[in-house]
Amino acid sequence: MSVHEANRMRRLPLYLFTILDNLKEEARARGLEIVDLGMGSPDQPTPKHVVEELCKQARITENQRYSRSDGEPECILKEAIASWYKGRFNVDLNPETEVLPLIGSKEGIAHLSLAFLNHDDIALVPNPAYPVHFNGVIMAGGILYNIPMTAEHDFKPDLWNLNKEVTSRAKLLFLSYPHNPTTSVADISFFKKVVDWGKNKELIIAHDLTYSDIVFDGYKAPSILEVPGAKDLNLVEFHTLSKSYNMAGWRIGFVVGNSAVLASLAKAKSYIDFGIFRAIQLAAAKALTGPQDCIKELLEVYKSRRNVLVDGLNSIGWPISKPKATFYAWTRIPPKFNALTSMEFTALLVKESGVVCSPGTGFGEYGEGYVRFALVENEEKIKKGIDRIKKLLTTEY
Ligand SMILES: Cc1ncc(COP(=O)(O)O)c(C=O)c1O
Repeated sequence: MSVHEANRMRRLPLYLFTILDNLKEEARARGLEIVDLGMGSPDQPTPKHVVEELCKQARITENQRYSRSDGEPECILKEAIASWYKGRFNVDLNPETEVLPLIGSKEGIAHLSLAFLNHDDIALVPNPAYPVHFNGVIMAGGILYNIPMTAEHDFKPDLWNLNKEVTSRAKLLFLSYPHNPTTSVADISFFKKVVDWGKNKELIIAHDLTYSDIVFDGYKAPSILEVPGAKDLNLVEFHTLSKSYNMAGWRIGFVVGNSAVLASLAKAKSYIDFGIFRAIQLAAAKALTGPQDCIKELLEVYKSRRNVLVDGLNSIGWPISKPKATFYAWTRIPPKFNALTSMEFTALLVKESGVVCSPGTGFGEYGEGYVRFALVENEEKIKKGIDRIKKLLTTEY
């Protein structure tokens, strides 16, 4: 018996990591050791004190019940988020109305589109992008409008020269700096310009600040909410504990900002999910309010890996620049393979060297010609991968 998915499901591109998984399996079956720099899934452990808090809280009966937005554990987490924001960005938030915990930021980003987009509403999505920014729009049945981003403009969207008709029908704009996959970073002056552009517009600006803590060489990632007047707009900012505290599998993130936007998102969610396991909420509060040395240690790990990867690739003739933030490196495919698409090149790399990266087109059509490496293997493995890539670059094809 055949099944017929909804059209909006059929409009979704094939999930990138499914394709990569198949390529990896084939290479593994041929006896190749895989160096997996594909998916941005942190390999380091969650800090011990956070795991201990989870275990302690999981034993308490009250915490095993359905989550309730006005419950005590829920209030503890929302207050922890608001005080983290104050300490980190000097932004004041009302924990009751301007903070909403999420089952990971991906969940919240997808549901934001569902909560706000009608079939004739436009969502402006800079491209390349983290896939849920555009896939969420497709799933919600809205109109996706890609704003091309290029290296020439430091992977920033040109909001100022958009078609006026498009801008006037836009209900949502996604932004995200530090940026996955391009590693582009923004300073507060860029966010000031965005806030100025957003004044007198009703559209919702959603900034995804997933990589706020994964920063190097003195760069500090600002919050768009630091801009004076930002809170007068329909502006929200997404965060996650997945990357800063290696809690990707726990599924915990949050969104802060405009209370009316958050109320509608909470309303949409209330028809779909039952909130977050309370023990996870309390452990997340511990992560945000407890000692932060774990982030410093994590940054040392990523920084060393970044240097090994970037210096290594440059030394074998594959030009790549050092990212100031995120745990990715983004570069054009080597000139020798210019005739290949980024997907074809990625497949060749896995097949010949066992090194897995992500093709730029997994992040949208404007990622063509690029690949992304995630720094989620240890230095030794990265070095091994570079040696094998060297062979590929020096072999005649
Ligand atoms: C830019 C960006 N946003 C959101 C997410 C999703 O994070 P979470 O684990 O909180 O769903 C990721 C994960 O890689 C990401 O890179």
